Amino acid sequence: MLKRYFGRTAAGEAADLYTLANACGVEASITTYGGALVSLKAPDRAGRFADVVLGFHDIDGYLNAEFYPGALVGRYANRIAKGRFALNGVEYKLACNNGENSLHGGIKGFDKAVWSACEIADGDPALELTHFSPDGDEGYPGALSVRVAYTLNQNSELRIDYSATTDKDTVLNLTNHAYFNLAGEGSGDILGHVAQLNADRFTPVDSGLIPTGESRPVEGTPFDFRRPTPIGARVNERDEQLELGHGYDHNFVVNGRAGTLRKAARVVDPKSGRVLDALTTEPGIQLYIGNFLDGLSVGKSARPYGRRSGFCLETQHFPDSPNRPEFPSTVLRAGEKFESTTVFRFSV
Ligand code: BGC
Repeated sequence: MLKRYFGRTAAGEAADLYTLANACGVEASITTYGGALVSLKAPDRAGRFADVVLGFHDIDGYLNAEFYPGALVGRYANRIAKGRFALNGVEYKLACNNGENSLHGGIKGFDKAVWSACEIADGDPALELTHFSPDGDEGYPGALSVRVAYTLNQNSELRIDYSATTDKDTVLNLTNHAYFNLAGEGSGDILGHVAQLNADRFTPVDSGLIPTGESRPVEGTPFDFRRPTPIGARVNERDEQLELGHGYDHNFVVNGRAGTLRKAARVVDPKSGRVLDALTTEPGIQLYIGNFLDGLSVGKSARPYGRRSGFCLETQHFPDSPNRPEFPSTVLRAGEKFESTTVFRFSV
C-alpha cells in the first residue's frame, strides 16, 4: 500500500493519502482528512483507465470544498429538521448549517476530522480508519467510537465496512459522499449515465429537503428507476418533487431486507461501458446528482466541477429519522454495536 503526505489542516494536523491497488490495476486512494475517497481508477471497455470520482490533488481542495466530495459523513448523514430531536425524553439541539436544518453532521462533521489510519495486513488491500467523537460533539449525545474499513478486492469491489459504539444512547447515520462520473471526473455532466435503482418507493421532501414522512411509490413518477433510465431523461419534467430537490436529491427505499447486503443501484456510462453497482445493508440510498455544484471548484484534471458533473449514491438511513418514528430507527444504544456495509463494484 502506498502512503504519501496530503497536507495540513488549518489547525496544523497532518493528513495522509493511502492508495489501495488490486491485480487488475484498479486503484482507490483515500485520505485521512475526512476519510475521503480521493480517486478511483477503473478501466473502460477498451481497458483504458480513468479516475471516476470527483476530488482534489491535495488537502487544500478539500479544506475549501463545501460539497463533501468523497467524504465519510457523520454523525448524521443528510438532514435533521431544525437541528433538533428528542431521545429518552431529552431534547438535543444540534449545530444548524443548512438553513434551519442540520446537514451531514453539522459545522464540523466527520468529513472535517483527521482520522487515524492503520493498514490491514492480511488479505485484500485494506485501510482501517478510526475516529473518536466526544460526548456533545456538534450537539450529539454520547462519546462515539467509529471505525471504517475500506477494502479493495480482486473483483474490483470497494467495500466500506462501518462500525460504531457509544457510551450513551445516541443517533447515528453514516455514509460515504463520493461523487462519481463514470466517463472520468471533469468530463462534463452525468445526465447521459443510465441508472437503475432497486427501489419501489422513495421519501418525498418539503422545500427544506426534509422528508414529509410519506413513503411514496415510484410508479408513474420520474423517480421510477426500476428499469434502466438515463438520469437526464426526466430531470426537467414538471414535477413537484424534482422542483423541490432542484433535480434528484432524494432518498429511495431500497427493496429487500435492511441488514442484508443487497443490490441498491446500478449506473452505466454507455460511452465508456463502465458500470458501477452499489450494494448495501442500509435501508435507503440518496440519489443526489450534484444539482448544487456550481463550477467554482476545479478538480484533479484542472477542469471545473459544474452542475451535475457527478452523482452520489449515499447509502443511508432515511433523512430526519430521529424525528420520524415511522422510519427505520437510527438510535444506537449504549453498549450496542452499529454495523453497516456498502460495496461499490466496478465492471464494464
Ligand atoms: C444532499 C444535498 C446537499 C449535498 C451537499 C447531499 O447529500 O442531499 O442536498 O446539497 O449533499 O453537498
